Amino acid sequence: MKTRILQKRSGCRGVVDGRDVIIFSSNDYLGLSCHPEIIKAASEAAKRYGIGTGGAPGTTGTTDLHQELSRAIADLKSREKAVLFPSGYQANIAIHNSLASPETVYYLDKRHHPSAVDGARLGSGSEIIRFNHNDLTDLEDKLKSSEGRTNVVSLPSVFTVDGDIAPLDKIADLKSKHDFSLILDEAHATGCVGKSGHGLEEHFNLHGVADFIMGSFSKALGSQGGFVAYNSISEKQLKSGFRQFSYSTSLSTVSVAAALKALRIFKSDEDLYKSLQKAKSSIIEECRKQNIEIISHESMILLVPCENLTEALEKLLEDGFFVVPAKAYINDRRQDCLRITPMSLHSGNDIKAFADYIAKSVIQKRS
Ligand SMILES: Cc1ncc(COP(=O)(O)O)c(C=O)c1O
Repeated sequence: MKTRILQKRSGCRGVVDGRDVIIFSSNDYLGLSCHPEIIKAASEAAKRYGIGTGGAPGTTGTTDLHQELSRAIADLKSREKAVLFPSGYQANIAIHNSLASPETVYYLDKRHHPSAVDGARLGSGSEIIRFNHNDLTDLEDKLKSSEGRTNVVSLPSVFTVDGDIAPLDKIADLKSKHDFSLILDEAHATGCVGKSGHGLEEHFNLHGVADFIMGSFSKALGSQGGFVAYNSISEKQLKSGFRQFSYSTSLSTVSVAAALKALRIFKSDEDLYKSLQKAKSSIIEECRKQNIEIISHESMILLVPCENLTEALEKLLEDGFFVVPAKAYINDRRQDCLRITPMSLHSGNDIKAFADYIAKSVIQKRS
């Protein structure tokens, strides 16, 4: 697939490959990356601290702003502490690596993100067992074969490609029967899942079930960076400190200030998450009216099966809509789809125009 070049952006509108477009594929679900107050906070941080932090926490220390963001994200995830990383990828590497020992067995869903797999692979002498996607019977059978070892189950709350969610209620039941630590990856859940957008624990009303919550500031929070949040009691499970934290230059204060402001806006402006939910419902409703199939409604990642995908994407761009492709599982087979994501900034007219357009173009309709 062709690499698209973004040349300009303001909210859900932008210029891609020279075309003015409405963006219908972005992880900036809440439209915060272009929010004027956030841009102002980021600019002020650049003036106060400079762009780069000038060192890794293990050498030059940290800033008051990083400390504030740690507290704010720990608070959002109802945990006692949080450690910040330059990216969500690095946060996943760090938490998996820190739990590793020759006795550790990682259980990873077969569709988990590469960053979790890479993190588990780094674990010296640890074993990795992949279980079938969202198949708790398979997971339980595999857990039974490793009773007595240091078991770690690792799942994304929202699956990045397929857009479905992990069955945390059933995982919690398993956790009461078998001894394991749980890492929950909230990259696409923070700001997007749950009654008020706090994530999958909130969605299932199972607060505190995960031992470690990993997440990213680069999706709904519109900034950059990652985190791992946990309580002191879980800290005992860590076999080593977070090397990826101590020995990598800290997240830029520009990103930290932006993420901090984004969290404040997210918490104080209840309408923001409601607008995102409304945009999602409108996309689903407009697609239903046009008889366009959406294969999963569980998260903000909506997949529409599409034949002649390359051609369809080209046409969409030419006519003012930016959409990216996905190869999602449908009936146990990877199939070409449009990966459509609502943004809180999409208006009813944007959505109607988009659904009307995709109904007219080469989309496979429900029979
Ligand atoms: C489930 C999941 N985990 C982790 C990451 C990595 O996060 P980041 O983009 O902040 O590095 C992603 C990125 O798309 C993701 O989808």
